Amino acid sequence: MRRCESSPRRLTSLRAILWASAALLVAAPAAVIGAAYPSALRIPRSQPGHAPTIPAGLFSHRTHGTFGCFACHPSTFPQAPVAFTHDDMKRGQFCGRCHDGQVAFAVAGATCGGCHVPAR
Ligand code: HEC
Ligand code: HEC
Ligand code: HEC
Repeated sequence: MRRCESSPRRLTSLRAILWASAALLVAAPAAVIGAAYPSALRIPRSQPGHAPTIPAGLFSHRTHGTFGCFACHPSTFPQAPVAFTHDDMKRGQFCGRCHDGQVAFAVAGATCGGCHVPAR
């Protein structure tokens, strides 16, 4: 009968371990996605050091959240930093695919600071 006294406690700790590992399984991928999928990111400058007073273009995943990932990845942007210029956008590439004055406001004529947002 002494054995039966210790078994509930052993069960409780086993349950605790199970819960802890379940929590880890849920938390780990969330942390990985959080790191890999930034809400906003800077587009790297094609020629580093060029126009240093203009902050690098900022892209917000959050304000483009009405689109599915496949609207942009991998057709228009790789899921990795890639540099491009206004000439590229003028040709309808990258941001210019949508920011052409039809799908969304045109790059040309828009307020520079709307995209070249200074660091806060
Ligand atoms: C719709 C967003 C958007 C607007 C509006 C915009 N830019 Fe950009 N611009 C970008 C992005 C994105 C890049 C690429 C990353 C970078 O180099 O900052 C870029 C790149 C640049 C570059 C470096 C590469 C190149 O093409 O010369 C300069 C300089 C620049 N922009 C100046 C301006 C000025 C000046 C204005 C306003 C007249 C402006 N931008 C308006 C998004 C924009
Ligand atoms: C409207 C276009 C657009 C949509 C929609 C979009 N992304 Fe992106 N994503 C971008 C741009 C732009 C970049 C930066 C590319 C560059 O540096 O030139 C980027 C970069 C990334 C990166 C790389 C981040 C890094 O640190 O380099 C990941 C990961 C990513 N996106 C995941 C996603 C996921 C997941 C979704 C859907 C939930 C999504 N994106 C939807 C435009 C988009
Ligand atoms: C798949 C189409 C698509 C692509 C690609 C895209 N945008 Fe947009 N963007 C939109 C739409 C649609 C809106 C909202 C409608 C509008 O304002 O005309 C918007 C709004 C914005 C805004 C205003 C809201 C905000 O975030 O402050 C900025 C700035 C902007 N985009 C910058 C960019 C930059 C920079 C890129 C490239 C790195 C880019 N967008 C690529 C479709 C796109």
